[in-house]
Amino acid sequence: FEPLRLEIKVFGSHIIIDLLNIMSAADVLQSIQYTRGSFKVLDQLKVPHELVYRDIESVKDAVDAIKTMQVRGAPLIAMVGCLSVAVELHNGQKDLTDNQLLMKYLDDRINSLILARPTAVNMRKEGQKLLEQVKEWSAESNDSSVLRSRVIEYCETLLKLDLADNIAIGNVGAEAILNTGKLTDGRATVLTHCNTGSLATSGVGTALGVIRALHQQQKLEHVFFTETRPYNQGARLTSFELLHEKIPSTLICDSAASWLMRTKNVSAVVVGADRVTRNGDTANKVGTYQLAVTAKHHNVPFYIAAPFSSIDPSIESGDGIVIEQRSSDEVTSIGGIRIAPIGVSVWNPAFDVTPAELITGIVTEKGIFTPDELRTKL
Ligand code: MRU
Repeated sequence: FEPLRLEIKVFGSHIIIDLLNIMSAADVLQSIQYTRGSFKVLDQLKVPHELVYRDIESVKDAVDAIKTMQVRGAPLIAMVGCLSVAVELHNGQKDLTDNQLLMKYLDDRINSLILARPTAVNMRKEGQKLLEQVKEWSAESNDSSVLRSRVIEYCETLLKLDLADNIAIGNVGAEAILNTGKLTDGRATVLTHCNTGSLATSGVGTALGVIRALHQQQKLEHVFFTETRPYNQGARLTSFELLHEKIPSTLICDSAASWLMRTKNVSAVVVGADRVTRNGDTANKVGTYQLAVTAKHHNVPFYIAAPFSSIDPSIESGDGIVIEQRSSDEVTSIGGIRIAPIGVSVWNPAFDVTPAELITGIVTEKGIFTPDELRTKL
């Protein structure tokens, strides 16, 4: 069975378009392509102009792809990290011939993945769970090849779990929004931010999964989505996903959100999360906080949609979250074209923290919770 591939050269860059994948993406776009021993990620820096898949052969490749934002989105970062461990262990590292060496190796690799981007908690949580599991397995058998296989299988299982979680989140969130009562002829108008779809997860997405579920149920009137400066995940990636699936949608400037809520019948705002703390404070793409403030002012319910892997019970409040600062170039330039004068001073936090009191509900694969209810589930 030969994959259907189109290989072309454009301005010196070698582009491989996987036709089969694009066809199967009639449902959703694929952020990753994984089979045992082979792993590719869609280079999101090139979307929407090109669909180019990059090989990930090692954890180092994954760290590089995460740091440069070729892959991004909290759940996807964790998935790519774990699968890079699986592929590296499957294809190499043959000198790790006893459990102790293997465990030391895993510890180092997972640590480098956790440090690649500091705000999202998913990689840390998945990595720590894996290390705990490995300790248990190691006590059961001294055979390092058994341990190696179990680690590979464990990482592969995460793929299926992520998809199942996304679908559950979609259904829970759709139901919550339909219960807001702020509908147009029984259909919801939703505002979202950043990209939380199949390009931010290995499944159908979190907040965008909620929007997909509404659309599938023919209960979506319209989705508005922000361009999400400075990195434009909305304009570049969310547009691409929504157009691809023919979901009725409109791109707005980040600064148009208050006016949108004033003038359109917005049923709810739904966004993703990079880290939710014990009290429900939520770190997400910068600009989320101002959406929550304006939603409160306009009496629009504000939902976070995130899997439990985004919830960090080790931190009490948003004050404890490290906010990643990114390069000033992302603000002074757009698409590589400089728009601000040389010498300008820039503050570029990649995320902000929305205080729990502005959050109507946190939509998870286990149901929807107010911030207070969430605490009892931890
Ligand atoms: O900087 P990014 O693109 O990784 O930021 C992504 C977000 O903030 C998302 O909303 C969040 O990770 C959830 S993705 C399902």
